[in-house]
Amino acid sequence: MLTIDVNITRPSHSYSILLEPGLSADWRAGVESRLAASSYLALVDATLAAARDIPPHGCMEGKWRYLWVRPGEENKHLEQYAALCEDALHFGITRDAVLVAVGGGVTGDIAGFVASTLLRGVRLVQIPTTLLAQVDSSVGGKNGVNAEAGKNMVGTIYQPSLVLIDPAFLDTLPRREFLAGVAEIVKTAVLDSGEFFASLEAGAERLAANDHGFVVDAIGRCCRIKAGFVQDDERDTGRRQLLNLGHTFGHVLESLAGYDGSVVHGEAVAVGMVLACRFSVARHTLAKADADAVELLLTALGLPTRIGQLAADRPEPLDWSAALASEEAVAVLAADKKAGADGVNLVLPHAIGDCRLEKGFSPVEVLRFMRDHVDGQW
Ligand code: GLY
Repeated sequence: MLTIDVNITRPSHSYSILLEPGLSADWRAGVESRLAASSYLALVDATLAAARDIPPHGCMEGKWRYLWVRPGEENKHLEQYAALCEDALHFGITRDAVLVAVGGGVTGDIAGFVASTLLRGVRLVQIPTTLLAQVDSSVGGKNGVNAEAGKNMVGTIYQPSLVLIDPAFLDTLPRREFLAGVAEIVKTAVLDSGEFFASLEAGAERLAANDHGFVVDAIGRCCRIKAGFVQDDERDTGRRQLLNLGHTFGHVLESLAGYDGSVVHGEAVAVGMVLACRFSVARHTLAKADADAVELLLTALGLPTRIGQLAADRPEPLDWSAALASEEAVAVLAADKKAGADGVNLVLPHAIGDCRLEKGFSPVEVLRFMRDHVDGQW
């Protein structure tokens, strides 16, 4: 048998994350000065574009071409992705183009997927405008869209060439969206260290009030920590999976609420983190005092910590106990991207700063635990 080895050295994925208040004031010049290209394709969150006088969808101005992205989980689908690819190709984009994503997580995810597949890949710049995107989704190259089978089921891992973070965007962010990002900051601290966590405890009031100095420092820390996870495990087969702390529980809650906006991702992650901590306490792998501290911090920051607090503003209240007992809940958990062949994988804290991926839980066991604690009686 003839064996021919194809030895591919992965291309370098090194890139910089630049963080500075006011950095986005002239984002076009900022991108042009750092990445030369024959054309630039801006994919901008449509709400932001309308508010900031961004040229309309389909407009060409000099080297710049503009497309507006409909935000919201309900628009994160293959149809919008395909339409953006077609519209980009109508501009006559060539492979040396730079695609610039300006917006929150949904815009960044769709735009990243477009960049990674358009002409088999064009360079990508992420300019995240929400706290959640600034501390998490704009770094690390994950992108994608939702499919019938579940959230983010179609996508790639494709690193940007540059990330520009301007905390000034946060000044106009709706409160709930700001807090959604705060939940990811707490998650990062629980993963990282008692020292980072203690600094959030001490600065909870400043963080919740969007105190610029404190928030810029927290964004920087989160990006540095996330960069470490991504450098170690870009393809998400090992250590990077720890970043899913709170997400498996949270994903079930978001799915059962139907992604109708009544549960914001960060709220689901906050409650999911508390559930992960309490599950670990029940297994005698986390001290109760640590779980109490996580719950106390989230409460101090204005985040929900109990399932029963979620989706409270729905016209028809959601019966969480019934929803968690449904076939749908089992199906969501079993279909979770993070599930393995032999059961559900959970990231469980063993201490603040020591979280571990544990495998093989039965969906029924996890859902029973959630159902038994809808009102957070531990
Ligand atoms: N948001 C988790 C990750 O990027 O791996």
